[in-house]
Amino acid sequence: MEDLLHSIEQKVKPLIGLGKVADYIPALANVDPNQFGIAIYSNNGELYHAGQAYTDFSIQSISKVFSLTLAIKHYGEDMWKRVGREPSGNPFNSLVQLEYEAGVPRNPFINAGALVISDMNQSRFASPHYAMREFIRRLADNPLLNSDKIVASSEYEFRARNASMAYLMKAFGNFENDVEDVLHSYFDNCAMRMNCVDLAKAFSFLANKGYSQLSGEQVLSARETTQVNGLLATSGLYDEAGNFAYRVGLPGKSGVGGGILAIVPNRFSVCVWSPELNKSGNSLAGMAALEALSESIGWSVF
Ligand code: DON
Repeated sequence: MEDLLHSIEQKVKPLIGLGKVADYIPALANVDPNQFGIAIYSNNGELYHAGQAYTDFSIQSISKVFSLTLAIKHYGEDMWKRVGREPSGNPFNSLVQLEYEAGVPRNPFINAGALVISDMNQSRFASPHYAMREFIRRLADNPLLNSDKIVASSEYEFRARNASMAYLMKAFGNFENDVEDVLHSYFDNCAMRMNCVDLAKAFSFLANKGYSQLSGEQVLSARETTQVNGLLATSGLYDEAGNFAYRVGLPGKSGVGGGILAIVPNRFSVCVWSPELNKSGNSLAGMAALEALSESIGWSVF
């Protein structure tokens, strides 16, 4: 397996230079674009990696999967009154549907949906970001994980779009807490710094019927796990979810830090990272690497 990962690294590295690092969050624009890492964590507890798999990066929207998991554990089916389960077909930070769909976001992975989920977690925890950080540290089996304060404050400074969505949802009655407080928790979560190995380990429960071998806990039930994987397959890559299903064929979640997490149910979790993004805000080399991986192992959920 490690030979395969090294050959994928060689295959996709020439793509670096064709994308663009995220710069709408100024603190993210400083990252060296010439980086690539990939890590697999199998249900047998085996770890395989290649490239810069131990280099930390900003997990950004991949954090939305942790937030959703925490919310499902507490709210169960009730949460779906406040957020939908349909692909949006729009960019991750789009506002248009919110107005004509009465402040109910299409799914938990677009920014509007993730903000509603953050609002739910805000109602439940005294220190929502610290609850999330503890949860992530436990799942990744890494007590040193932290949020990057410089990235979080840069996101807060340039929060206009996210703040607009949250206030619009508040106007529709779909937001319980103080918007600015929730924005801080959401940005602190997005600004968590992790590497490919941490993320492959932390999300291993999604490949393993909801059970995390690393923390020894049943994080979600087997049924909830298939449901989250279904949402990842239909909405995890926003307006590129169809292209991702076509090219990769796995449940996945991207972040503008250049990470993409993917799940091979009942086998392994994989995280790939390369900072340059395509037009939909998803890692360009990362997509190609996951496509090569699913082709090589001859496996997709479809
Ligand atoms: O709120 C934002 O715009 C960022 N913190 C996260 C966006 C993101 O990662 C979209 N994913 N590709």
